[in-house]
Amino acid sequence: MPIRQIDYLTSDYRQMIRLRDEILRKPLGLTFSKEDLEEEKNDILIGAFDDGKMLGCCVLTKLDNETIRLRQMAVKDKVQRMGIGASLLYYAENLARDKGYRHIVLHARDFATGFYEKFGYRISGDQFTEVNIPHFLMAKELR
Ligand SMILES: CC(C)(COP(=O)(O)OP(=O)(O)OC[C@H]1O[C@@H](n2cnc3c(N)ncnc32)[C@H](O)[C@@H]1OP(=O)(O)O)[C@@H](O)C(=O)NCCC(=O)NCCS
Repeated sequence: MPIRQIDYLTSDYRQMIRLRDEILRKPLGLTFSKEDLEEEKNDILIGAFDDGKMLGCCVLTKLDNETIRLRQMAVKDKVQRMGIGASLLYYAENLARDKGYRHIVLHARDFATGFYEKFGYRISGDQFTEVNIPHFLMAKELR
């Protein structure tokens, strides 16, 4: 499954927004605001493709020179649990490491913490609410 970086405001980016909307926002009765998306112009945008169709994606946002945040991890319903999420995570971590980041952090939905734990992420701190659902801060050192 080809995984690659995509550019902001391209047709790949529009596919990404549709996928994120379908998997992460619509089930919660939410949508993306113009402001949410404007903030992504400096982010690292990553997609997993099959024959030009995006099946999974994630976003990396710089927090400081050593720390990057993984966000918006989403895999199309029909192809979940087939290894796409793991491949995206591997790609994103390698890219972050190559760029010199030492720590990766994320806000995990409570039912997704088990996925990240499989790849060495650990919960840090108490549960909090984001997009109206329970989340945990999780972190991993990039060595
Ligand atoms: C969570 C998500 C990104 C995982 O991607 P995926 O492609 O389905 O996961 P993979 O097939 O790569 O799974 C890798 C491993 O994690 C496990 N896993 C996947 N989702 C899991 C979950 N929610 N909880 C616990 N383990 C999970 C798999 O069983 C697999 O384990 P194995 O290697 O022992 O077989 C994807 O299911 C998804 O988009 N879910 C809906 C949106 C969401 O919750 N996003 C995360 C927001 S924080």
